[in-house]
Amino acid sequence: MAAKFDKYKKDIDRSSFVRYSDNYLNSLFGSNKVAPLWVADSDFIVMPQLVKAMKKVAKRGLYPYELKTPAIKQPLIDWFAKRHNIKLKMEGLQFTTSVLTGLAAAIDELTEKGDGILIQPPVYNAFKGLIEGVDRTIVNNPLSLKDGKYEIDFKDLEKKAADKKTKAMILCSPHNPVGRVWTKKELEKVADICIANNVLMLTDEIHCDIIYSHVKFTGMTEIYKGKSDHIIMFGSAGKSFGIPGLVDSFIYTPNEEYKNALQSRIMRFHLGKSNSFGIVAMKTVYKHGFKWLDKKISYLEATVSMIDEFLKKNLPDVKLIKPEGTYQVWLDFNKVVKNDEELGELLFKKAKVGIAPGKMYGPGGNGFARMNIASPQPMIMDALKAIEKAVKS
Ligand SMILES: Cc1ncc(COP(=O)(O)O)c(C=O)c1O
Repeated sequence: MAAKFDKYKKDIDRSSFVRYSDNYLNSLFGSNKVAPLWVADSDFIVMPQLVKAMKKVAKRGLYPYELKTPAIKQPLIDWFAKRHNIKLKMEGLQFTTSVLTGLAAAIDELTEKGDGILIQPPVYNAFKGLIEGVDRTIVNNPLSLKDGKYEIDFKDLEKKAADKKTKAMILCSPHNPVGRVWTKKELEKVADICIANNVLMLTDEIHCDIIYSHVKFTGMTEIYKGKSDHIIMFGSAGKSFGIPGLVDSFIYTPNEEYKNALQSRIMRFHLGKSNSFGIVAMKTVYKHGFKWLDKKISYLEATVSMIDEFLKKNLPDVKLIKPEGTYQVWLDFNKVVKNDEELGELLFKKAKVGIAPGKMYGPGGNGFARMNIASPQPMIMDALKAIEKAVKS
């Protein structure tokens, strides 16, 4: 099993991959000679059935405009029911090219200029651009770090949700980059606050499939059932199966009004185009991906343990915030550097490791960095050793 994910294909031109692009590496890390462990993208070769299915489409020689028929949607619905006990109704599903496309459309369509949108930093950096890009205002409900675990500050959330200008919340569930998989109790509290204050819930559940042992993912749409339908969920197989380049994602809402508004936006702006490979990928992974994904999660979990052991033994001042899900690990360097400038110097110049500086994720990110671990373990180990050498030099 391990060998499959340990494999790194050398004979591939990766120069156009965002993760490996010289332009990105130079602008983010000041050099293209760093180990690219930043963007949440995977080095793992996808599941064999998917390669087979892609070849079949390629051989077809026909790549027309295509529809998401019920036969395409059913495996997705079955996946969520079996894997997460989330019951999605076919009529509530819509499709866009990416989760960010869907979120951007929802914010622009369903809120007004100047409205406040809640987020929980340190959080996925693209949320900031989505909100500010359409002249909405970021309302931060910062997470608090207690005994190595991030928690929601409910008092602060309650206060900020009660502000009449606050109209929506983007919940990152599971949370990128801190790796929390919110408990049912936590989600219930968040839901109660948003519902009581008429704050629209935009739940980004793109990381919902990467959940580690002894942790259970709960879908926010299930929490809302019987309470309110002021919720829109966003998801995709992109992270779970390492296929963001096939650009396909879904939006789910039980609310007819939101559905119609989004449908109209999707039609007017042509945001719902499918691609022939994405369609088949969605059907294939959700039908046949159970065991493969379990193996990938086991591999990632072993990687987290490897990092934990390495740091405890060799770099006890660099703390791992142990993730409950996602393939990002959030590392606390505050004991080994004084500020972000020193952190950049240490990681990018000395260690030559391109991991995402925590300040990108907003308040609370200073002195931290996010490492993408969806790579063969030997690559992660090399990066750890380089960081150790840099810290000790
Ligand atoms: C929380 C979260 N949402 C959305 C995305 C981007 O998804 P997409 O490529 O489907 O827009 C990412 C990618 O890292 C993410 O971490």
